[in-house]
Amino acid sequence: MEVIICPNAQRVGEVAAAKAARIAAPIGPKVVLGVATGSSPVQTFAELARLVASGDLDLSEASAFALDEYVGIPEGHPQSYHEIIRQTVTEPMGLDPARVHVPDGFADDLQAACQAYEDAITAVGGVDIQFLGAGSNGHIGFNEPTSSLSSRTRIKTLAAKTLEDNARFFDSIDDVPRHCLTQGLGTIMDARNVILVATGTGKAHAIAQIIEGPITAMYPGSVLQLHPHATIVVDSEAAAELSLIDYYKATYANLPEWQRLDV
Ligand code: F6R
Repeated sequence: MEVIICPNAQRVGEVAAAKAARIAAPIGPKVVLGVATGSSPVQTFAELARLVASGDLDLSEASAFALDEYVGIPEGHPQSYHEIIRQTVTEPMGLDPARVHVPDGFADDLQAACQAYEDAITAVGGVDIQFLGAGSNGHIGFNEPTSSLSSRTRIKTLAAKTLEDNARFFDSIDDVPRHCLTQGLGTIMDARNVILVATGTGKAHAIAQIIEGPITAMYPGSVLQLHPHATIVVDSEAAAELSLIDYYKATYANLPEWQRLDV
């Protein structure tokens, strides 16, 4: 696991995007992205859009798969993840909407929609770069505490903490949907590279558990300790409860030339 500590959220976005661009370069324009919603990846996606606009990143034939979607919110609803991905990923990065996928939380048969989503990921050969945020309870995607570490895309019930955290996007907590479709931890672990970004003190405890705690379903993001190519980019606030801060900083400062990011 590579841990990069940045001074602020803007820098987190720049570093995460530079890391993704480095991974994407040898893959070429058909790279398959896994994308998250929420506040965490906003700067990263804005920076990726800037790299596309400047010609430094070619996503002209890229596909994207969102991590999750609320159940029962129609596609055009401002808080539907279909809509948020359109605004933060598809349009700014100039992706072909036909290649951007979000689980269908409005399907009559939700289980069939989950299987169709897994099949669609398999059909493109799997995800090359999975972007992740982390919940303050340690979730990734909407894999809430006690999620199976080998789970696949399925229906989940949001934890009380997630309802509380996401209430800021709705008029009231009662409007936050209780259920979602989410890629499973096993689905996420199949991605060839993962980049998790987190900022702010509210994430500090979860980040310490994910990086330095035991691998446990109580902090689902801790499964990333088993991933061979996981990068975690955090600001100093989200890093505050890590015990090896000096080591992570020294490692990044002393990367060999060929591993250094161009930021
Ligand atoms: C969103 C997702 C969630 C969020 C997490 C953090 O698609 O899968 O895991 O990444 O809840 O949310 P923010 O970034 O809003 O703090």
